[in-house]
Amino acid sequence: MRKVFTTALIFVLALVSCSYAAEVKIGACIYRFNDAFMLRFRNAMQAECEKSGAVIEIADGQDDQTTQNEQIDAFIAAKVNVLIINPVDRMASQPIIDKAKEAGIPVVFINREPTPEMLGTYDKAYYVGAKAEESGTQSGQIVAEYFKAHPEADKNHDGKLQFVLLRGQNGHQDMILRSKYSVEAIRDAGIEPVEIAGAIANWDKVQAMNIMNAFIMSIGPENIEAVIANNDEMALGAIEALKANDYNKGNPEMYIPVVGVDANASALEAMNSGELLGTVLNDADNQGTAAVRLALSIASGSDTGSIGYEITDGKYIWVPYQKVTRGEKQ
Ligand code: GAL
Ligand code: CA
Repeated sequence: MRKVFTTALIFVLALVSCSYAAEVKIGACIYRFNDAFMLRFRNAMQAECEKSGAVIEIADGQDDQTTQNEQIDAFIAAKVNVLIINPVDRMASQPIIDKAKEAGIPVVFINREPTPEMLGTYDKAYYVGAKAEESGTQSGQIVAEYFKAHPEADKNHDGKLQFVLLRGQNGHQDMILRSKYSVEAIRDAGIEPVEIAGAIANWDKVQAMNIMNAFIMSIGPENIEAVIANNDEMALGAIEALKANDYNKGNPEMYIPVVGVDANASALEAMNSGELLGTVLNDADNQGTAAVRLALSIASGSDTGSIGYEITDGKYIWVPYQKVTRGEKQ
């Protein structure tokens, strides 16, 4: 009898928790679906929603803030319980926060950080991401460690490191801080960094390939001692250009160390085949899971202390980066 009762109770509880979670509707906006890292992020959010029985709809902003604003309006009109927003332009987050606040809908920003001032205008505005400076430091360290372990990498024997810098989208915190801190990490390692060429390639492989091709033509590959890219896609684009010039194809005399950020599958492949020196894990799984759990928790008014991720300053979840080099984690 007791057992029957317990089983029945568990069944009822399971039903209650299912129907309760199913009531939570998340409206999510991604700046652009056609982005390798954001694809990993989306998959992680979907998986967490499937686990918890929540409903999520994800809209593709197609790299256009106006399009995304319309998608947000539609989610608000459809009375979603919570928004997860990856803004096209992080500096355009204030109107999004204002709208959400007016509608009384909590909002979790991801990957593109609104300023603390913006987040401060709404008690139900949060940010889930990773500390950009950390990834910059780690990618710079990977290059510095290689340079120290390989005296031949200093091609012109001047003790300095002549590098090419491929930057992500203008204004993105990951573009600004990865660029700054990767170079600083090289200096902190006791090597003088010299940026011989640099350009914005918008996180994009093809743009990076074209830019790198132009740099190879104008500078000469023999004068480039490293390529630092703000993300893996751009690192892979640079590698395409190098390979087209017979670099990074296995001949140690013709090799330029290239470093990225994200640890996307294609980058890990390139690393394992020796084309890419290393990358930094941008942990999409944990960021996506944390964003959904936080969203569900604030939407239902439950204790955010039990979601399994620490909340800093009442507003932030920071997921750590991790260096990835050959033979280490992959
Ligand atoms: C970065 C990531 C890039 C790109 C960008 C989009 O964190 O490293 O590859 O996805 O976010 O905002
Ligand atoms: Ca040098």
